[in-house]
Amino acid sequence: MSRSDTPSSPYAARRARLAAQLGTGGIAIVPTASERQRNRDNDFPFRHDSYFYYLTGFAEPNAWLVLDGSGRATLFCAPKDLEREIWDGYRLGPEAAPGVLGVDEAFSVAELDTRLPRLLENRETVWFPFATHAGLESRVDGWLQKVRARVRFGALCPEQQRDLCGPLDEMRLIKDAHELDTMRRAADISARAHVRAMQTSARMLRAGQDVREYHLDAELLHEFRLGGSQFPAYGSIVAAGANACVLHYRADAAPVRAGELVLIDAGCELDGYASDITRTFPADGRFSGPQRALYDLVLASQEAAVAATKAGARFNDPHDATVKVLAQGMLDLGLLDANKVGSVDDVIEQRAYFRFYMHRTGHWLGMDVHDCGSYVEPSQVGEVSERKDPLSGEIIKNRPSRILQPGMVLTIEPGIYVRAADDVPKQFHDIGIRIEDDAVVTETGCELITRGVPVRGDEIEALMRA
Ligand code: GLY
Ligand code: MN
Ligand code: MN
Repeated sequence: MSRSDTPSSPYAARRARLAAQLGTGGIAIVPTASERQRNRDNDFPFRHDSYFYYLTGFAEPNAWLVLDGSGRATLFCAPKDLEREIWDGYRLGPEAAPGVLGVDEAFSVAELDTRLPRLLENRETVWFPFATHAGLESRVDGWLQKVRARVRFGALCPEQQRDLCGPLDEMRLIKDAHELDTMRRAADISARAHVRAMQTSARMLRAGQDVREYHLDAELLHEFRLGGSQFPAYGSIVAAGANACVLHYRADAAPVRAGELVLIDAGCELDGYASDITRTFPADGRFSGPQRALYDLVLASQEAAVAATKAGARFNDPHDATVKVLAQGMLDLGLLDANKVGSVDDVIEQRAYFRFYMHRTGHWLGMDVHDCGSYVEPSQVGEVSERKDPLSGEIIKNRPSRILQPGMVLTIEPGIYVRAADDVPKQFHDIGIRIEDDAVVTETGCELITRGVPVRGDEIEALMRA
């Protein structure tokens, strides 16, 4: 009996579920990520491939998983090498891998090119992730050529190649208990980091110190590492004042000034899982009237999106709920002039809100911060409708968006970004606000796992006074 017939770990259970989808004549090849050079003699920190890690829990570079339709799992990994291990660190090695990872057999990665053709022989379908690893297609071609060279001896060469991302993306979209547990822990660490950055900002300003965006970034990193996180899940955004209106701004050196807002979009990665939180707060702990008015509008729009996030709803529902609240608020606060743009329905129809809210309200979250998984409902891919975008004039093809199911995890992250302009009330100039939480879809609603950091204006002010 294959080891993977008796799943003893979440990874073995996932391999068994995937194997059942490969077909009896199917075999899957999953490489981990490549190591990348940053500059001379210096690599980027290694980050495993998410699909590979999902199926193995193995974080070393230079490794491949081969899984067949019967559930038999073969790992190729770096061989033990005392001299290299003195320089680069411990390697598990193929001898220990079956016992530790529950795979059926393991070999040195140096044997990949000789063993793979034999493993592919007499299979019908080769599965591998398409368009994810540069050069993978040509390596598969090379192995298949070797199989073909043996057809005279009676070997059959697989006739089909299929994209492994399809079944794996669907599996990863619904998080299992092990994943949810890790994501909750990642969210807790990130929430603590945001609290720390907020409190540091107020404390340093109260003490009359020169506060820079990088000071707050340092607080985030400190708390991430203190919690055991391996990396930030993405480049942290720490944007003081008008910088918050630059959507992909990175923590830089701009001064953090009393009276301005700071937008921090940062989350840690813990054991392969991302968290993704944005908070916007007054640098010195007190919102001005106009800041608070815009903040409360974004918060109300987020509350509407949260209420729309539940099993059975569509992925687009939270976005539509957000836009409705923001559009009305933009009219009420005078960001948009009803004489020019018409009613709230016109604002939505003509996308007049887009000038101040130009991104979507969320994305799947998981091993990757923008996680995999189709945003279209699989049973309705054929139901295409067309509409003309009122801003670009482009014809957009729409398909019914994904129906939410328990165990899906998505972000809910409305915002408003007001660049200085003559036709916009001056009091709102250069204010950028986003509020982002991570939500686990449940039968009846959603669980916000990032609320370890407060979100209400009063609560943020109280926290920053503390
Ligand atoms: N931090 C990336 C995002 O919010 O989508
Ligand atoms: Mn996000
Ligand atoms: Mn974010």
